[in-house]
Amino acid sequence: MKVTVVGAGAVGASCAEYIAIKNFASEVVLLDIKEGFAEGKAMDLMQTASLNGFDTKITGVTSDYSKTAGSDICVITSGIPRKPGMTREELIGINAGIVKDVSSNLVKHSPKTIIIVVSNPMDTMTYLVHKTSGLDKNKIIGMGGALDSARFKYRLAEALGAPISDVDGMVIGGHSDTGMVPLTRLATRNSVPVTKFISEERMNQVMEDTKVGGATLTKLLGTSAWYAPGAAVSALVQAIACDQKKMFPCSVMLNGEYGMKDICIGAPVILGRNGIEKIVEIELNDAEKAHMKESAEGVRKTNDLLEL
Ligand code: 2OP
Repeated sequence: MKVTVVGAGAVGASCAEYIAIKNFASEVVLLDIKEGFAEGKAMDLMQTASLNGFDTKITGVTSDYSKTAGSDICVITSGIPRKPGMTREELIGINAGIVKDVSSNLVKHSPKTIIIVVSNPMDTMTYLVHKTSGLDKNKIIGMGGALDSARFKYRLAEALGAPISDVDGMVIGGHSDTGMVPLTRLATRNSVPVTKFISEERMNQVMEDTKVGGATLTKLLGTSAWYAPGAAVSALVQAIACDQKKMFPCSVMLNGEYGMKDICIGAPVILGRNGIEKIVEIELNDAEKAHMKESAEGVRKTNDLLEL
């Protein structure tokens, strides 16, 4: 199993590290455009192999996509991260060109690859890869909902005073500060609806804290987060690589599901060796449907900024 991670910045390097520690991939290629940067990160990570007990071979490369040839899965984290006060959508001007260029280079050397898009604005970048890469739609996945759901569970556990392992919940919709749809109605504490334990007022706070989870960290860190994004994308890579048939909310091209067409937005999908094995349509109530509709309007507005 060969995995390429493009972008050796904090998110890409964290993703490579988590993939290596999980030890399911034979090789991870870390690629960056900054001379020697990916090589340095890869070497530093390889020097943890005996300590963290993995056999995955991590190699770094500067701009040479021939070294990514034959990758089963490629992760695109390249592009600029946001600064405090910025929205993800403001990154489109620079990141669209980078993502288009990166994806075409990846597909040139790995025509059968599955691409996972992390770069922001992620839903629109995922849509861009659909429109420009020529890959089948089941092989293009946007990572946002897995991260947002992890933040949702963190906030739910905080509100419940419960261990995170007791909590389950999902966030669908756009990966944006205003477009996320945390499914509070379906969240559970060990199979019991969390609404049994948390007041509506506190639940609304959980929803709001979840939506701005990324912005909150960007304010604290001065740049975008990297541990949770890296961990989230490594979970998607593992689900695909190990054919786990696990369900995650991912940004996927809809063709009628949830009443939407020609848009990439967060929806529950089953991930396996073919990438998106199935898009799962869950029953939404009127409020959730309205949130999804509003979220889609926001994503489409950003998509319209693309010069396709
Ligand atoms: C985040 O929410 C980087 O979009 C990513 O942290």
